Amino acid sequence: MSFLWPEGSLKPAAFVAQFRSSPAAVEERFARLHPGTHPVLFSSGRAGLSAIVECLGFYRPDQVWLPPYSSHCVLDAVSRTATPTPHLNGQQQATLIYHQWGYVHRGDGLPEIIEDSADSLHLPGTGLFPNNGRFELISLPKILGCAGGGVVFCRKPGDAIRLKEIRNNRPDRGFIQLLLRTLLKKSPRARAYWQGAEALNGNLPGLLCGDIHLRLDELPQILEDRKKKLALVSKLAPRWLKTDPDRLPCNVPVECTEETEMKVRALGITSGLRHFNKNQDIRHMEMVKVMPVPIHQGIPQETVEKIIELLTTQRDRS
Ligand SMILES: Cc1ncc(COP(=O)(O)O)c(C=O)c1O
Repeated sequence: MSFLWPEGSLKPAAFVAQFRSSPAAVEERFARLHPGTHPVLFSSGRAGLSAIVECLGFYRPDQVWLPPYSSHCVLDAVSRTATPTPHLNGQQQATLIYHQWGYVHRGDGLPEIIEDSADSLHLPGTGLFPNNGRFELISLPKILGCAGGGVVFCRKPGDAIRLKEIRNNRPDRGFIQLLLRTLLKKSPRARAYWQGAEALNGNLPGLLCGDIHLRLDELPQILEDRKKKLALVSKLAPRWLKTDPDRLPCNVPVECTEETEMKVRALGITSGLRHFNKNQDIRHMEMVKVMPVPIHQGIPQETVEKIIELLTTQRDRS
């Protein structure tokens, strides 16, 4: 089975790697990958997002614009402090721009931009903040396939200091959350408890920092694998799709019928049809339904080749 993102897991070697790791050491590695940014490590992307909203000094009456069809965890994280809104009408105090699956969406000039790059695989050495945002967020399991973690990149060093304060002042739930998420992975009840508490979680336990270190060691292979799969699938991408030279996507959107999607589902791809703003500009929404073809490290290359064969045959027939 394959989904939009790789299934996060804990490498057994993390039990040893944790002794050469810490949140500060992980942050230093991300700072080296993206010079000039100030990264802050959280237990997850959603924990980082709720801390950003707190760092902005927001409370209940403040509105944060979120894209249509935002996932529950994003709505949840924002709503812990402020009010999420789908209306882009000049009333919002902040704007969350989701660079869906690694495709940059535009929206510069809007107030307090949070660039949500949850599932973008950035190339090392590249600049962030494509909309001149104040923060940029990534979710490490979606990018590296690790067991947890999220990073908030700040443009201003003062924001990074404030975010660390917020994180360090949160009650320490690291171990129990680790237990719920990794060891009880198959239990829906454990997942429900994990989700309920995660938006206000803070630091990442040492074991998960060790896991992230191991994944970052594998980054060159992850990049190479992604580029190879992208080259195979990109011929099926719609002509309107705009790519960004600084990041690699985890899925390629493909226009297809529900019938074709069912055939791809039979190959174990469970993402279904999803909405995508084909203008890639939040001021000009034109939502279309597409099938995300996964090209991340969690899908075997043979499966990617089978999907291409199936889609090409369907396309030739129509
Ligand atoms: C678009 C988007 N942004 C941010 C997040 C939060 O990431 P995490 O799962 O690391 O909390 C999610 C979670 O699914 C997401 O879908």
